[in-house]
Formats: sequence, structure tokens, C-alpha cells
Amino acid sequence: MRAILTTPPTGGVQLSDFSAKDEKGIRIKTYATGICGTDKEIVGGRLPFIRPQLGNTLVLGHEALGIVEDSGDFQGFKKGDFVVPMVRRPGNCRMCRLGRQDYCEDGQFVEAGIRGKDGFMRDEFLEDPRFLLKVEGVDDKSIAVLTEPLKNVMKMKEIFNFLRTRIPWYCEDSTLACKNLYVFGTGTEGLLISVVFKTLGTNVVIVNRHPLEESEMSFLDQNKIDFLDTSSESIESRVMKEQMDVAIDGVGSMDVLKAISDNVRNNGIVILFGTAGQVASSNYQFIDNLVDKNTSVAGSTDGAKEHYREAIQFLGNYGGKYSLRKIITGTYRPDELHIFKEKEKGEIKKVIAWS
Ligand code: BGC
Ligand code: ZN
Repeated sequence: MRAILTTPPTGGVQLSDFSAKDEKGIRIKTYATGICGTDKEIVGGRLPFIRPQLGNTLVLGHEALGIVEDSGDFQGFKKGDFVVPMVRRPGNCRMCRLGRQDYCEDGQFVEAGIRGKDGFMRDEFLEDPRFLLKVEGVDDKSIAVLTEPLKNVMKMKEIFNFLRTRIPWYCEDSTLACKNLYVFGTGTEGLLISVVFKTLGTNVVIVNRHPLEESEMSFLDQNKIDFLDTSSESIESRVMKEQMDVAIDGVGSMDVLKAISDNVRNNGIVILFGTAGQVASSNYQFIDNLVDKNTSVAGSTDGAKEHYREAIQFLGNYGGKYSLRKIITGTYRPDELHIFKEKEKGEIKKVIAWS
């Protein structure tokens, strides 16, 4: 079969003939795979933790949507079901044994298409049904390729809902309508964070350092999400009008962390998701700020099976209302490998169609 391979740790990308060894489970035909920043970092040789499953190449791809071809003797799935596989597979620590490998304690997990397990950018794969979710209740099945990035947001929501009960933090009418959430980064994750937190009832402001392309603006306009371009208005001036109660960062730069610590309101909530491999500078004032303001700061990565389930539900309930299809800005063939290197004008999420 065809597969898109990379060579850890140097990266690179090639379409090759591939045959899987030691795979058991439900036979799935790949329908579509998404490309994200992680894939581009891997291809560029910038992710130090990537490792092959066997030999010295790794099949790329952790964002996938497939169709069951043969469910064998496994219960609960049948030919023709649309399914999404999980990225991270448990090791042996306590959290992994509890099904919360997203909170793995010792790093012994593997991740499909990233570390120690071949990914889904190939014609087909065999999957353990424990790590497979059925796409049900979603009219436009093709948007379910967004399940994997969306599950990360569902975990952020779980963390937010936990942190906000630290003190009676809700508004006087018991809702979150008086709370402003600033989202840093306007890629797929940033847009998905914006819509999910909008459904929680917060006001959302999405932030970037430059004007957006029309594809991104039309998505935000349609969903009534405010955009702050910090090249034309500073965060400081914006928070005078709309205080920063919550900040979620999808960028991972020190500049953003500083802007958050300077501007977040007392008793605010900060969730950090983005990583950029940056080393802290000597300006440590931001720590004092966060301490002085009683800020709740949480790091968040990956998500549990339950978050995939919630993501599928969200796609079913809100996929049409928020036009989530607009996030997919291009569909390509498996041999169009240039898409791992170039950024198209107006690009948000690129998808490879396999069948
Ligand atoms: C995936 C996560 C994964 C992380 C780090 C992200 O792109 O969505 O599931 O844990 O990369 O490997
Ligand atoms: Zn990803």
C-alpha cells in the first residue's frame, strides 16, 4: 500500500510502498488525514522526541478518519462505519492504566505518527477497537477529520471547568456571560477553541500579531468571534475595554506568555497548549504577576477517549451552525508532498484524501 514516511529524527517526507507488520484488529480504509503543525515540525526535523515503530522510518499522520472495511470478530463495529483512531496509546503507569494516558506519569506511551507507532497516512491500517471511536450523529462525515484536533479542546474545557470552581467565579446571573476569553493563535486549534468556549457562554476574542486572511476572517465573522490584530491595537488597550478573565495560548512564545501575565485579571485562568521550543528569557516578572493575581495556570496536552467522544458530539451538534467545514481549506492527493512545506494563502487545515 501507499504510505507517507518520514525518517526520525532528521525528518523529510516521501510517498513509498509500505507493508505493516505486527498489526492486529479491525481493518480500516483511510478516508482522510489532516496535517497539523506537529507534522510540519516532524518533516522539518524540529521535533526531537519523534521515533520510529520498527526500523528507521515512521508512517506520518495522527489526525485520521477511516471507514471500517472488515471488523472480523470484533463487536460494536461493522463494515462501512466511519471511525476515528486515537493518537496516544497507554504505557504501564497508573494514569495509563486508568485510560488517562493523556496524563501519563512516566512518558512510556506511544503516539501514532509521532513517537513509536506508525501513523495513519497510508491506504489502510488495522486498529485495536479500544482505541477507535465511531462517528455517529454527524451529517457531514468528512468534517470528522477534525475530531483529533478538537479532542484537545475538549480536554481544555474539562480543565477550565475544574479551575473555575476554585472560587465562586461565575457572573451575577450564574452564567459566564460577563467573562472574556482571549485565545492566542488563529490556526485550527485557535478557531476550534473559540467556538467551543463560545458555546460555554464566554465572550471570545481571538488574537494574532497580523491581519487575517479572508478565509479566517469569514469564519470569525460568521461565528461572531471578535478578532484583535495586535499590529493595529495593543492588548493593553483592548483589556481596558474588555478585561482578560481567561487566556488560552496556542502559540507557545514568551511574548504571548508575557502579554498574558501582564494583562490577565486577578483570579484569572490561563491554559497553555502551544509549544514553540522557546527558552525562558531573563525577564521573570511574569511569575510575580501570576502569583500576585492568584492566577490558575494549567498546561494541557492531548486528550482522553471521552474527549474524542465529546468532539464527535460537538461536530454533530454544532458542525453546521459554526460552519466547521470552512476550517478545511484544501484537500490534496497523497503524492502532493509539497503541502508539508508550503503554507498556502488563507490556509487553515489541509487534508489528504486517500480514497
Ligand atoms: C496531538 C496530541 C499529541 C501532541 C504531542 C498533537 O498534535 O494532537 O494528541 O499528544 O501532538 O505529540
Ligand atoms: Zn495534530
